[in-house]
Amino acid sequence: MLFKDKYNLKFKYSKLLKYILIQKIKKKKYLKFSEFINIILYKKKIGYYNNFLFYNKKDYLTSSQISNIFTISLANFFFFFLKKEFCKILEFGGGNGKFAFNILKELKKFNLFPKYYIIEKSRYLKNIKKKKYKNIKWIKKIPKNFSGIIFLNEVLDSIPFDLIIKNNNNYYNSNIIINNELNFVFKNKKINKKYLSFFIKNRYYNLYKFINNIFLNIKNNKNIIIIIDYGNLNNFYIKNNFMCFYKHFSHGNPFSFPGLQDITNFVNFKFILKLIVKYKFKILNFSNQENFILNIGILDFLKKKKYNKIKYFNKINFLKKIILPYEMGEIFKVLILGNKINIY
Ligand SMILES: C[S@@+](CC[C@H](N)C(=O)[O-])C[C@H]1O[C@@H](n2cnc3c(N)ncnc32)[C@H](O)[C@@H]1O
Repeated sequence: MLFKDKYNLKFKYSKLLKYILIQKIKKKKYLKFSEFINIILYKKKIGYYNNFLFYNKKDYLTSSQISNIFTISLANFFFFFLKKEFCKILEFGGGNGKFAFNILKELKKFNLFPKYYIIEKSRYLKNIKKKKYKNIKWIKKIPKNFSGIIFLNEVLDSIPFDLIIKNNNNYYNSNIIINNELNFVFKNKKINKKYLSFFIKNRYYNLYKFINNIFLNIKNNKNIIIIIDYGNLNNFYIKNNFMCFYKHFSHGNPFSFPGLQDITNFVNFKFILKLIVKYKFKILNFSNQENFILNIGILDFLKKKKYNKIKYFNKINFLKKIILPYEMGEIFKVLILGNKINIY
């Protein structure tokens, strides 16, 4: 397909998404922010994650897409558990399968050949790459009695969420309507403080449901769960607790470029902690990405690799991107949970 055709198609898709959203709002009077995001990101064929025009164009960059340095770090961590007891890995939101492919390649060097499963929401991604990645199996639900490593990198931030805004000590629930010019605008409704906790819970309803479902399914088996995402322990109603990315440029306008930009949530880990307590899982690690990656000993591993000077320099540059505090090192958190496992 010619570049110009692709360019035109992009904007055709975006217009179509806008049209669909407007029709929905006209019918329902408003859309919850989570409903809006669900369409923008996941609408069949034209949503951001379901759209063949964007995904392979490196439109967004996660640690696993930036360089295999992230994968090497994790391979060394996975190695410990795989060697000891597990032979299976289950990745949620495995995207284009790049991480899976690379980590299997690294683990092969340790003579480890675990079974690798991916559960991915995007229909488009589920159906590509299968030929090249023949050792990876895309599945629909968690295998019965799954025991192994469960891995999620930047998945929770792409689960549709709602918005609560705090202004002058008042709290507002933000929905989306259209104005006379058919543009999207927020409609804020004041929340009675008596019901604030209910609204806060609802803001993370999809996230809570998603994690609860994983924990519920695995609660009786031995597992290690590794969750990496950007967020912290307390951000219930920060005004801009979400971010939009258009061609790597971050901004705060969710209404621009429908379907052409990513909209991501700033994960509130407190919600996950509630579920950890509910299911009595053990917290093995909660730190920022910088500490986690350095503590695994990535610098030693890199030295052992015996790269030539240029390659080593390149690797270090990519490493900086994922561990420096003003890049991804501080804002990204690594939560590791253990269930029915004794690591010592
Ligand atoms: C920001 S991308 C990260 C992709 C990949 N993990 C990486 O590190 O590059 C988020 C991915 O999570 C997937 N996703 C979102 N919600 C999901 C769900 N409920 N189940 C499985 N995958 C989901 C999206 O389709 C997308 O591929």
